[in-house]
Amino acid sequence: MDFFEYRNGELFCEDVAVADIAAKAGTPVYIYSAATLLHHYRAIEQAFAELKPLICYSIKSLANLSVLRLLAQAGSGFDVVSGGEIARALAAGGDPSKIVYAGVGKTDREIREAIAAGIGTFNVESEAEFENLARLAAEAKRTVHAALRVNPDVDPKTHRYTTTGKKETKFGVDIERAERFFDRYGRDEFARLDAIHLHIGSPIYSADPYVEAIRKTLDLIARLRDKGFSVTALDIGGGFGADYEEHRSPAAVQYAQQIVPLLRGSGLAIILEPGRQISCNSGLLVTQVQYVKQGGERNFVIVDAAMTDLIRPALYEAQHFIYPVRLGEGVPVPQRKMDFAPPAGTKVDVVGGVCESSDFLAKDRVLPPAGRGDLLAVFSAGAYGFVMASQYNSRPRPPEVLVEGDAWRIVRRRETYEDLMAGE
Ligand code: LLP
Repeated sequence: MDFFEYRNGELFCEDVAVADIAAKAGTPVYIYSAATLLHHYRAIEQAFAELKPLICYSIKSLANLSVLRLLAQAGSGFDVVSGGEIARALAAGGDPSKIVYAGVGKTDREIREAIAAGIGTFNVESEAEFENLARLAAEAKRTVHAALRVNPDVDPKTHRYTTTGKKETKFGVDIERAERFFDRYGRDEFARLDAIHLHIGSPIYSADPYVEAIRKTLDLIARLRDKGFSVTALDIGGGFGADYEEHRSPAAVQYAQQIVPLLRGSGLAIILEPGRQISCNSGLLVTQVQYVKQGGERNFVIVDAAMTDLIRPALYEAQHFIYPVRLGEGVPVPQRKMDFAPPAGTKVDVVGGVCESSDFLAKDRVLPPAGRGDLLAVFSAGAYGFVMASQYNSRPRPPEVLVEGDAWRIVRRRETYEDLMAGE
């Protein structure tokens, strides 16, 4: 579900023609829809309303300050994974007590800054990290809340690079070790271990892995409570799917239907960390065709965006739907499915200009005829798009634009050659 649609053969983001933005802001450009961001945030809020959860939007998926400000104003807390993300959350007006801080490699500096800022919960991922947190909290004479991130050994059935809740990954502490962890650290004076954190991977297109992980965790919490430990909160992480293709993902309410009954009456404060389900369908990457070229075996549409702007296809073989911003004569409004084949379409690879064979945005995709100067929209690019962009090949990163109704503004300017060399 999003607010991008074709009107009279032209792609609109809310009430703004995408081609107008491209004409003024240039290409490549990321375009975000405020209404879509808020729609998905509120859908999650409503679906889980009975549990009155704290929703901590996962900053890593789309971190622009204007986006964070919008969500902070809607009441969102934030899931962060670095000192830099804490700085962004605070700069956007985020409430520090509504920030949860995960990550296997928190440095002393990051922990000290987070303690000073009054971060809500440290999601601790190892024994050594807990000891360090307790030491630094004691040193600062501050009490902090800590959640143990448990690894429940559940298969989320997603790409191996984004699976986090299986035993062989680096994340969290084996659920079998959790009781011993509480025995050792559960009565620390400065780092109060009073919550459990889960994040099993992403994107997860079914509620079942959550159900399995939550059941295991509730058993653990019951055992901990029997031993006299007070566990007051459960953070079930992020990972809800998004529509890379139409109707691909369950809606928030479908996850909630299976998850809420498990947690009803548990006496636990519930935290959610959705990223992609809020940001993914809220963003487009718009790019311009530079050349069309017939290779030895394949046809290439060479565009001005590249793996440096959107690395997901290269890194995970992720599929993003691509289609012209302006529909030519006889070109239908698309069904956003990877195998959608418009009449007179040809099979092409959409590639960038970077010197890597992995530099592609799509492979073997049937697209309407495209020519030099045409604009293409890469859909579902809001999550893990700009945030993973790099300057490889000394390519300035693209601007980000936020649309609200019939208004739009640049919320991060295009980088310049000076930006590339700043600090050298
Ligand atoms: N919470 C924690 C602790 C996480 O590590 C993540 C994502 C999230 C929440 C949010 O997950 P989401 O709801 O956005 O799926 N770059 C990859 C995704 C990496 C996800 C990392 N952790 C991609 O492009 O698919």
